[in-house]
Amino acid sequence: MTKNPVYHPDTIAVRGGLQRSEFDEASEALYVTSGYVYSSAEEAESSFNGEKDRFVYSRYSNPTVRMLENRLSQLEGAEACRMTSSGMAAVFATMASLLKAGDRVVASRALFGACYTILTEIMPKWGITTELIDGTDMSAWKSALSQPAQMVFVETPSNPLLELVDLEAVSTLAHQAGALMVVDNVFATPLGQRPLALGTDVVIYSATKHMDGHGRVLAGAILGSSDIVDDAIFKFLSRTGPSLSPFNAWVVLKSLESMPYRVDRMVTSAHHIGQYLETHCPDIKVYYPYLESHPQYDLAKRQMKHGGTVVAFALPGGKEASFTFLNHLKLIDISNNLGDAKSLICHPYTTTHSSLNADQKHELGISEGHIRLSVGLEHPDDLIGDLMAAYARLSA
Ligand SMILES: Cc1ncc(COP(=O)(O)O)c(C=O)c1O
Repeated sequence: MTKNPVYHPDTIAVRGGLQRSEFDEASEALYVTSGYVYSSAEEAESSFNGEKDRFVYSRYSNPTVRMLENRLSQLEGAEACRMTSSGMAAVFATMASLLKAGDRVVASRALFGACYTILTEIMPKWGITTELIDGTDMSAWKSALSQPAQMVFVETPSNPLLELVDLEAVSTLAHQAGALMVVDNVFATPLGQRPLALGTDVVIYSATKHMDGHGRVLAGAILGSSDIVDDAIFKFLSRTGPSLSPFNAWVVLKSLESMPYRVDRMVTSAHHIGQYLETHCPDIKVYYPYLESHPQYDLAKRQMKHGGTVVAFALPGGKEASFTFLNHLKLIDISNNLGDAKSLICHPYTTTHSSLNADQKHELGISEGHIRLSVGLEHPDDLIGDLMAAYARLSA
């Protein structure tokens, strides 16, 4: 028997999970249906008692959503994938389904604002506690994981300052402590980092970002072994209902076809822009994992296949300088989304992380001078021209 060929990510992004109907359509079909019909009462019974594997209701599963789940599983090298209505629904469902009262989570404190709120405000209401640590500090991980824990949650690179967590080393410590290792891989994308191959148990995405990549729909994905994803997580999702709409799944499915090319171009431009700013604006501190100035450059090179599509930088002059800079951009849009074909820029202190108080932001290292730039598909010279014209206004 011949084994299935192993395809490159570019090929999987175009063809993975494709399931044609009896009409032999070339493009993936969009199944806009909430329910399904049965040829007999007996068939309905056997579909519900598990004897027959078929679609029964789109809160559970839908053919278009299933194609997307299969494409992403193949891209990630994961046994199973379940889609959700947004990235945050994926984060919350993973925690709510795998944790219980009395459990302990250890997380790197450099987190997206909404993840931080779930861990510090929502989970404690149900008796789940979180120890937040400096995720870049291996001794902090060793100390926190010297006691039992049930989950380790990290984002690497982190939003917005692109701090990294050593996934292989922390996964090992997590497992020794009895914890599942969960990684939000949004900033790296499945093309830039393979957390499962480094020992991670569950990988989460906001598919709203590079996977849609055109700023249209919200979507989330949870990937890992079938034991975890198709059991506890699927049970939680199918009963509580944060399902992805078939239309949104179809949009993401079609966008995935070009994701490798989009991400490749965005990464090249982001790296170039980071280097340019570092060279031409000595008073700006630039953060980009693939720049030698990044404190975890060696880890970035070891763990990531590229430096990502986001560049962060700190302007001297705090909020006033940041707002002057943003307000003088003519091409790059002010927006808190990322991973889009359009370059987007934001001031994390007053937007994505505004729900945190000043002390919490200080602890995360987010200052009023920090800017996050999500590099899009425009020509990098045009982006640099826009950035430098706004920068010139700071000394005008
Ligand atoms: C790192 C990270 N995780 C999760 C999310 C949440 O994704 P969504 O907006 O799709 O809920 C975001 C959104 O910005 C993010 O940046």
